Amino acid sequence: MKPFDDRFLIGAATAAHQVEGNNVHSDFWVMENIPGSMYKEPSLDAVDHYHRYKEDIKLLKDAGCNSYRFSIEWARIEPTKGNFNKNEIEHYREVLAFCHENNITPIVTLHHFSSPKWLITEGGWESEKTIEYFGKYCNYVVAELGELIPYICTINEANMGKQISKITKRMMSKNTDKGSHSNPDVQVGLNVDMKAKMEEYYRALGESFGIDPRNIQTFLSPRTEKGDLLIMKCHEKARQVIKRVNPDIKVGITFSLYDYQSLPGGESYVEKEQYEDFLHYLPFIQDDDFLGVQNYSRKIYGPDGEVKPENERLTKMGYEYYPEALAGVLRFVAKNWKKPIIITENGVSTDQDEERVEFIERALTGVHQCINEGINIIGYTYWSLLDNFEWQLGYDQTFGLIAVDRTTQIRYPKESLRVLGEIKKSGI
Ligand code: BGC
Repeated sequence: MKPFDDRFLIGAATAAHQVEGNNVHSDFWVMENIPGSMYKEPSLDAVDHYHRYKEDIKLLKDAGCNSYRFSIEWARIEPTKGNFNKNEIEHYREVLAFCHENNITPIVTLHHFSSPKWLITEGGWESEKTIEYFGKYCNYVVAELGELIPYICTINEANMGKQISKITKRMMSKNTDKGSHSNPDVQVGLNVDMKAKMEEYYRALGESFGIDPRNIQTFLSPRTEKGDLLIMKCHEKARQVIKRVNPDIKVGITFSLYDYQSLPGGESYVEKEQYEDFLHYLPFIQDDDFLGVQNYSRKIYGPDGEVKPENERLTKMGYEYYPEALAGVLRFVAKNWKKPIIITENGVSTDQDEERVEFIERALTGVHQCINEGINIIGYTYWSLLDNFEWQLGYDQTFGLIAVDRTTQIRYPKESLRVLGEIKKSGI
C-alpha cells in the first residue's frame, strides 16, 4: 500500500441542481418543464439532498473520506434580481457547519451550470452585466459564509460552453442524427435525440424567459469568443471580491479537460485542442491559488483527425472507459501550472460497481504516481457522491458512490464508497 499524505483531500463531489431538488427559480427548472423540453425528464425532487445532506455527508465521513465538494445555488440565494434570501444562506451555513463538525473539508463551487432564471432574461452568459451580477452574488455569499469556506471554485467547467460550440458546429456540418440518446463527444449529459422538436422547444423557451429565443444564453449554451472572455472576467471579478472580503480563502476555477493523445501526425490537432481547452485561459488564472481539474476520458488524434481506439471499452455515457486519462491530463497541466491542483471531478457512469471500483483504483494509482513525480496535487473528489440528475439525460446515468431509490429517497451506499474511504485511510 502506498499511502497519501494525511492532509491529502479525498472525497466526492455534487452540484446543487443535480442533487438538492426543487431548484424552482433556476433556468434549468424552466428548460426542464416547458413543452417539447429536450430534457429526458425534469429534476423534480432530485435526490432530496437539500433535506438529507446530513445523512449523505455522514456516509462520506463514515467511509473514511475527509472532503466534500458541493455547490451553492445562485438561484436560491438570489431568486429574483437584487433580492438575497437570508434563509437560504442559513441553509448553506448549516451544511458547512456540519462538514466542519465531521472533519470534512468543504470545497464550495459558486456556480455549477445552473443560474437564476432572471439572469438569463437579462442576457445571461453573453452579457457584460453578468460580471457585476455575479460579483454581487459572490460578495454576498462570502461576506456571510466566508469564514466557513477554505476552498472556493468560482465557476465549474468554465470551458464547457466552448466545448459545446465545437460539438454543435460539428453536428450541424455533418447534419447527422446519430440516433443515440447521448453525445459521446461531450462529457456532460446532452441529449441530441430531439432535433425534430427544436423549433417548438425554442419557441417555448423564448416565452418562458420573455426574450427572443435567439438571445437565450444559459451556461451550457454554445459560447462565442466574447462569451468565453466574459466567463473569465466573471471569474476575475469573483476572485477579487472574495479576496477583498476574506484573503484566506483559496480561490480557483475548474476546467473540463480531456487527455489528448496523438498518434504520429496527429500532433497539431492535439496542440489546437489543448490550447482551446486550457492554455488560452492561463493569463486569467495566474493569481488563483489552485486549479480544479476535471477529467473523464481521453481523445486520440491521427493525421486525419480523431481516431477511436481498437476494442474500445465504453462507459454508460458512451465515451471510452480509460481511467489513466486523469494522470495524462495532470502531467500536461503540470507543465503549465505549478500551484496546487485539486482533482475536482473524475468518475464513471456504470451499472456495475466493480467497474467503478476499478476506475477509482486505476485513476488514483495514476494520481499517486504524479505526486511522486513532483506534481503539486492536494486533493481528489470523485464525481459523484450520489447517483443524480445528469442534466438533459435525466436520472438514467449512474456516477454515484451511493445509489438512491427516488421513490423512497433511501440511500444505498455502494462498495466503491467503501473502497474510496479505504484508499484515504491506507493508500493505494
Ligand atoms: C459536470 C457534472 C456532470 C459530470 C458528468 C461534469 O461535466 O461538472 O455536472 O454531471 O461532468 O457528466
